Amino acid sequence: MANITWKTEDGNEITVDVKDGLNLMEAATANNVPHIEGECGGCLSCATCHVFVDEAWLAKTGEVDDIEDTMLEMTDVERQDNSRLSCQIIASAELDGLIVYVPEPE
Ligand code: FES
Repeated sequence: MANITWKTEDGNEITVDVKDGLNLMEAATANNVPHIEGECGGCLSCATCHVFVDEAWLAKTGEVDDIEDTMLEMTDVERQDNSRLSCQIIASAELDGLIVYVPEPE
């Protein structure tokens, strides 16, 4: 289980206990986090699950692989150094306390 917080640009926070093995796109859509669409269901072909990972947590969320890296060039909001596709971040006890920021498309 990991306690995860999504912070939105309007200052709202959504904090949820996420079961191990669930990816953060699935957790976000199940909990109505705005602007996380997950259109492709997590198969790395839509980039609608874009988040910015709190810098303190970047190392723990793992490496960006080549496909995710390519898809991160297609996000609605411009990619930053801490950008991830949240369908590729899998909840585990290691991520307990993780904070991610939800970019808001114009
Ligand atoms: S849900 Fe489509 S790339 Fe993450």
